[in-house]
Amino acid sequence: MNQEDLKQAVAQAAVDYTLSRIEDDSIIGIGTGSTANYFIDLLAPHRHRFAGTVASSEASAARLKSHGIDVHDLNSAREVTLYIDGADETNPRLELVKGGGGALTREKIVAAVAREFVCIADESKWVDHLGMFPIPVEVIPMARSHVARQLVKLGGDPVYREGVVTDNGNVILDVHHLHPIASPRQLEETLNNITGVVTNGLFALRPADILLLGTSAGVKTITQSQ
Ligand code: 5RP
Repeated sequence: MNQEDLKQAVAQAAVDYTLSRIEDDSIIGIGTGSTANYFIDLLAPHRHRFAGTVASSEASAARLKSHGIDVHDLNSAREVTLYIDGADETNPRLELVKGGGGALTREKIVAAVAREFVCIADESKWVDHLGMFPIPVEVIPMARSHVARQLVKLGGDPVYREGVVTDNGNVILDVHHLHPIASPRQLEETLNNITGVVTNGLFALRPADILLLGTSAGVKTITQSQ
């Protein structure tokens, strides 16, 4: 099985899981990226089984609407039953690195609201220690140089993601050379405390609740308690 096959398999497992958890009035949080796209496409035939969705990016919102799936404003959603999204890295504690697609801030907001956060990933994303994938940091444009200097002081090597403007009108610095991250929770807080940072791609303070991991031996379900 190649990586695309694994992503599709895990997306199908996520659809099955979603259908077992939702009710007619459920709102589903939808992530961003290629694995989330497979999930959207496979969820589409079941769109009458739930009330609608909230999306973590304009790209996912457009894809959902193209399938005739309602996309709600998060502010008007009473509750988000579960949030399904991919990751760039996951460790065994289900702490994640996200934001490879630049949608980290809205992803973190939807994850914060959701009752349950289900991460969907192929086995290439599984690591013992986070940080080989550079940590995306969303930054207010005028603070870019200031934030970059602070990141260097922390031992990182920030690289400006050229030509990328986030859905929120901000820029992204990808921070290399932080591997192995000893305490993802502590680093997440430290990065967030730099003035000018909107948020960062470490999802450790609010990790996933469940990981559906696509492997060549099948889709594994991993929970935090394991
Ligand atoms: C986007 C993300 C994605 O979830 C992450 O980049 C994984 O993407 P893919 O499913 O394409 O491998 O965080 O901001």
